[in-house]
Amino acid sequence: MKERILSGMRPTGKLHLGHLVGALENWKELQQEYECLFMLADWHALMSEYQNPQELKSNIIDNLADWLACGISPQEATIFIQSHVREHLELYMAFSLLTPLGLLERCPTYKEQLREVTNRDLSTYGFLGYPVLQAADILLYKAAAVPVGKDQLPHLELTRQIARKFNNTYNQELFPEPKALLTQTNRLLGLDGRKMSKSYNNTIALSEAPQELRKKVQGMFTDPQRIKLSDPGHPDKCNVCTYYKVFAPQRQKEVQERCSSSRVGCTECKRELAEVLIKFLEPLQKKRTGFIKDKGYLRSILREGEKKAAAQASKTMDQVKLLLNINKDIC
Ligand code: TRP
Ligand code: SF4
Repeated sequence: MKERILSGMRPTGKLHLGHLVGALENWKELQQEYECLFMLADWHALMSEYQNPQELKSNIIDNLADWLACGISPQEATIFIQSHVREHLELYMAFSLLTPLGLLERCPTYKEQLREVTNRDLSTYGFLGYPVLQAADILLYKAAAVPVGKDQLPHLELTRQIARKFNNTYNQELFPEPKALLTQTNRLLGLDGRKMSKSYNNTIALSEAPQELRKKVQGMFTDPQRIKLSDPGHPDKCNVCTYYKVFAPQRQKEVQERCSSSRVGCTECKRELAEVLIKFLEPLQKKRTGFIKDKGYLRSILREGEKKAAAQASKTMDQVKLLLNINKDIC
């Protein structure tokens, strides 16, 4: 019996290289070792995008095509849309009953988002409950582990606390406490050296067109101490060099040497990196285009995934309802 894992992404926009290196490559590997559930978290997307839901559907299709192009396989993993399995919200409600407000208010991701996000109103009841829904996502399937990046660790800790509190309250070991499977891969920074994120406008999309990609790479921040071509560079402090390390490791040494001996300038170095990335993304983009055209296939994947997920979800909810005395046999 393989252990079960669940992970999710919010379909809020185009996926980028950060998603590939930080999550999707990892998910792909995990498919062999674990029973995997991969979820498009549309309710979670709505928690911040509720004022603009217009693009939700196209984002879901777009993200799904990227997942498949990156090697996430419907034969190996259960791929589904969160809102299509109603039990997520039912369990979310059950957890809301016993989640202490203070835990949510103190959650570091919550405080950070309230501080950082200024173009949307996130001071809502729903947004406060973000980690409660995430706990429901995970515990509905009694996942043993959750592949996440470091930024999600507070949510996983909350999930464990909620599981514990539920089990204690109803005196039943219903929910296992899931562990984090930290993504160990190289973290890829954005074009400006900050975390790669759509809201920082520093990403390269997996679907980026070559011309656009060249422009973006040319604008990447490099070693700040290297001003003239004759200044020797410090490749170990340069984000461009990290990109070579991730996408063309066989060239990293050469790139370092010619940089620190000032044989090649940053413009040339970045020009070549752009071509490396274009080549790297080419097969992925070809597959992606094929999937996007085949809506019938995408729909069938989601329908299949929903069926498998819902079967497990309803089992868990039956157990929860029994404990809460809200099951159907009223007399
Ligand atoms: N909060 C996660 C993120 O922003 C997405 C997510 C929703 C998730 N539900 C999940 C991740 C359950 C892991 C498990 O990345
Ligand atoms: Fe970075 Fe390349 Fe410029 Fe060196 S030459 S500082 S590695 S961009």
